[in-house]
Amino acid sequence: MQEAIARLPKVELHLHIEGSLEPELMFELAARNGVILPWDSVEAVRRAYAFSDLQSFLDVYYAGASVLVTEQDFHDLTWAYLQRCRSDKVRHTEIFFDPQTHTDRGIAFDTVISGITRALDAGRDQLGISSQLILCFLRHLSADAAMATLEQALPWKDRIVAVGLDSSEKGHPPEKFQHVFDRARGEGFLTVAHAGEEGPADYIRQALDLLEVRRIDHGVRCVEDPELVTRLVAEQVPLTVCPLSNVKLCVFERLEDHNLKQLLDAGVCVTINSDDPSYFGGYIGENFAASAEALDLSIDDLERLARNAVNAAFLETERRDDLLIEIDQWRERCESGCA
Ligand code: ADE
Ligand code: ZN
Repeated sequence: MQEAIARLPKVELHLHIEGSLEPELMFELAARNGVILPWDSVEAVRRAYAFSDLQSFLDVYYAGASVLVTEQDFHDLTWAYLQRCRSDKVRHTEIFFDPQTHTDRGIAFDTVISGITRALDAGRDQLGISSQLILCFLRHLSADAAMATLEQALPWKDRIVAVGLDSSEKGHPPEKFQHVFDRARGEGFLTVAHAGEEGPADYIRQALDLLEVRRIDHGVRCVEDPELVTRLVAEQVPLTVCPLSNVKLCVFERLEDHNLKQLLDAGVCVTINSDDPSYFGGYIGENFAASAEALDLSIDDLERLARNAVNAAFLETERRDDLLIEIDQWRERCESGCA
């Protein structure tokens, strides 16, 4: 099974690039830029990764992101993630970035996106990994601040496929950003949103009805509203589920308690992703491996999860078809017993 997972061609749809900052790179960039961190060693940072909820994580995550200053820093961060993608057999990835985390510290929007896109272009050319970029608005900040960020993004429209919503969920419902998302769709962006991670099932409904999202990020609290689950199945709304994240942030006590398999069996278009792999103890391969073990996933389940991700991705038909063929080939190899 672990060998089959290692070989499975994967698509990642929920990855915060700032959440892939490994402590070693954090310290290297802090030294490079003269940034003082609240921790004095790599081990001390790792010890700080004991979270009680989403907010306790976000406090550490924003502190870590303060080492990212130059275009080269954003490039190096993204390049390091793409190397992990190569080891995990990720064939396509859709990356979130949080421009406000940087522009609010005086870093130019162009610095952030130039560094990220330079690495993504090299990832396509040198590693054969295709990608898309999704701009996330920080929901604990105002709708006006999100609108100003959207305006900064307009010159980069051809490099940003969608806008999303992340950060502290509770108390910041999707409806707060309806106007911003209306404008974003009017400008040609697709939309996604974090909803139903810590927040109630109603936030998932709001994201669908008011923000007209194409996917829900997390969405695991949908099970509290059975009619909503029926709708997610009928409309095949993809959920980008992040199993190790959900355990680290205490959404589920143990991975064995996670509802991923229940949702898959109910016909929901669920996918497996890593969220903030450096902080949550694993990249996508580890999320697949740990979930398969804890939830007793079968080869059929793995295939379904992989196909769901391809179908949920913002991909052109030709690339989508190629990735589906790669999954067919993986399956044939599994059947012939040498996976
Ligand atoms: N930003 C980074 N990771 C996040 C998560 N899991 N939920 C909300 N905002 C985030
Ligand atoms: Zn997330």
